[in-house]
Amino acid sequence: MDWQFKVTFLALVALFTSYAFAVSPLVVKGADFVNSVDGTRFQIIGVAYQPGGSSGFDPGSGIDPLSNSSVCLRDAVLMQRLGVNAIRVYNLDPDLDHSECASIFNAAGIYMILDVNSPLPNQSLNRGAPWESYNSDYLQRVFQVVEGFMHFNNTLGFFSGNEVINEDSVPQVPAYIRAVTRDIKDYIAAQGPRDIPVGYSAADVRPLLMGTFNYMSCGLANETSSSSKIDFFGLNSYSWCGDATFQSSGYDVLVDDFSNTTIPIFFSEYGCNNVSPRKFSEVPVLYSKQMTPVFSGGLIYEYSEEPNNYGLVNLNDNGTVSIFEDYDNLRKQYDSLDVALLEKANATATSLTAPNCAGSLLSGTNFTKSFDIPARPDGVDKLIKNGISGKYPTGTSSISDTKPSQIVYAANGQQITGLELNVLANDQSNLPGNNTSGSTPASPSGTASTTTSSSSAPTKTNAATNLKVDDARFGSLIFGVVAAGLLMQW
Ligand SMILES: *[C@@H]1O[C@H](CO)[C@@H](O)[C@H](O)[C@H]1NC(C)=O
Ligand SMILES: *[C@@H]1O[C@H](CO)[C@@H](O)[C@H](O)[C@H]1NC(C)=O
Ligand SMILES: *[C@@H]1O[C@H](CO)[C@@H](O)[C@H](O)[C@H]1NC(C)=O
Ligand SMILES: *[C@@H]1O[C@H](CO)[C@@H](O)[C@H](O)[C@H]1NC(C)=O
Ligand SMILES: *[C@@H]1O[C@H](CO)[C@@H](O)[C@H](O)[C@H]1NC(C)=O
Ligand SMILES: *[C@@H]1O[C@H](CO)[C@@H](O)[C@H](O)[C@H]1NC(C)=O
Ligand SMILES: *[C@@H]1O[C@H](CO)[C@@H](O)[C@H](O)[C@H]1NC(C)=O
Ligand SMILES: *[C@@H]1O[C@H](CO)[C@@H](O)[C@H](O)[C@H]1NC(C)=O
Ligand SMILES: *[C@@H]1O[C@H](CO)[C@@H](O)[C@H](O)[C@H]1NC(C)=O
Ligand SMILES: *[C@@H]1O[C@H](CO)[C@@H](O)[C@H](O)[C@H]1NC(C)=O
Repeated sequence: MDWQFKVTFLALVALFTSYAFAVSPLVVKGADFVNSVDGTRFQIIGVAYQPGGSSGFDPGSGIDPLSNSSVCLRDAVLMQRLGVNAIRVYNLDPDLDHSECASIFNAAGIYMILDVNSPLPNQSLNRGAPWESYNSDYLQRVFQVVEGFMHFNNTLGFFSGNEVINEDSVPQVPAYIRAVTRDIKDYIAAQGPRDIPVGYSAADVRPLLMGTFNYMSCGLANETSSSSKIDFFGLNSYSWCGDATFQSSGYDVLVDDFSNTTIPIFFSEYGCNNVSPRKFSEVPVLYSKQMTPVFSGGLIYEYSEEPNNYGLVNLNDNGTVSIFEDYDNLRKQYDSLDVALLEKANATATSLTAPNCAGSLLSGTNFTKSFDIPARPDGVDKLIKNGISGKYPTGTSSISDTKPSQIVYAANGQQITGLELNVLANDQSNLPGNNTSGSTPASPSGTASTTTSSSSAPTKTNAATNLKVDDARFGSLIFGVVAAGLLMQW
């Protein structure tokens, strides 16, 4: 081989083996999320992911939920095994690099929905005086979060606000949320590589709920594509507890109330914990024909155990993970879902368009009737036009490690072996029952403990790991070699 050929050959091999595994970007069409490549409907089968809880958010520490790739790999593997296709992350430090974690979740077929705010001062709207917090410092931070995630194909969307409207909020708040939504959408339109949906996550305060939804989701005639209208609506709902039903939980009322929606709606948090362990009997109902015409799934609150006791797993201080019975129960519920039904495209739903904003849509006290959206603070137009300065990731990359280093204990205390990330082929996302790894020791029947105290001896067997050569990657490699062969002949 001559020198020039060798270089060409190596370059070709490099080109084809560094295949960028990626989920397809999602778009909003009418009332559905749609896969932009194959046109199937996407329903969120998700979990909230905020290890450390909101009190654990400490920008000085150099740590946030998507900053440590070793932790992300461990958790992505356990989420892939659980069957989820999306996470929601609340508090992010825009000064940290999230590309490794984003790439890991991407390879796992898991999308990310990101909140742009945090509980710290000047990092979210003040519901008592939104005009004070709506300033350029605040928007600078918001744009930093957007900039840090907008190049990842597995970024599903951003939340411009979470539960800002409640019994304590002043009437002007909804207009400010529309203003922040507009600013984010304008930023993405000016600086982003594609349209990324922006939505609002509402508290389940029924007297304010439909007013909020109607105010946020209507179209203003004088706004064009980059508008203050939200692209999707999340509802944080805990009304289904224990063995509730479609009726007793009030889910039937929600389906009726939202039946005219023209944008995707989902539970941005759900999973009441009044009865423990949780059996998640709401899951098969949420993903059944009773609800899928209106809802696009939801996110279980939450992945890790925090002081409020909603965890599916416990992140032990020594770096190990203990799986709770709740995780196994949820996994069983997910496994029973009819995935084909969930992915079915619905031409009626995807062609819906927003109603025009009008005072008659609104209801509830303490709620503005005005659709005057506050003007941008000084200097923000320039931020949008020029982009914010700083170093930001340009996209996901392929990942090298697939085996988590941490020990994971099953609900019965035994160690799970053979856990591994299954890197999905291009344009795929994770589904329940697919792409799981790890051999689970048999669980002694009848133990309903959410602790790991009943620990029996860890199994010493090194069960067959789920090592698979991915078809797509393998195909590319062959293609690379064949191409090189052709070149050689030439
Ligand atoms: C993102 O998705 C687009 C459209 O499917 C694709 O062309 C592009 O290569 C993807 N980017 C990465 C980094 O995977
Ligand atoms: C990431 O987490 C692992 C524990 O899984 C820990 O050992 C490591 O120090 C962390 N890395 C950083 C940079 O904090
Ligand atoms: C919040 O922002 C305002 C206006 O930009 C500024 O005067 C104030 O010092 C900031 N407060 C904190 C705690 O950063
Ligand atoms: C309206 O908001 C104020 C606080 O801004 C609160 O004191 C009052 O109770 C609210 N009224 C209703 C009916 O929610
Ligand atoms: C949905 O739209 C129909 C037809 O316009 C209307 O009669 C009905 O009241 C609406 N339902 C809700 C809950 O807004
Ligand atoms: C780690 O901590 C958990 C919970 O305290 C304990 O059950 C487990 O045995 C510990 N594992 C190791 C390897 O230290
Ligand atoms: C399709 O979408 C329309 C409009 O949202 C809805 O009324 C209908 O029930 C949906 N059909 C199915 C099968 O989900
Ligand atoms: C858009 O329309 C609303 C409601 O009719 C109005 O209050 C607002 O000033 C208009 N905005 C612009 C930029 O013209
Ligand atoms: C993935 O899940 C679907 C639906 O449950 C099933 O039909 C398919 O066989 C699974 N594929 C693999 C590789 O497990
Ligand atoms: C799961 O992984 C297998 C093997 O890598 C792949 O063939 C299959 O398409 C994947 N399924 C999904 C739904 O991602």
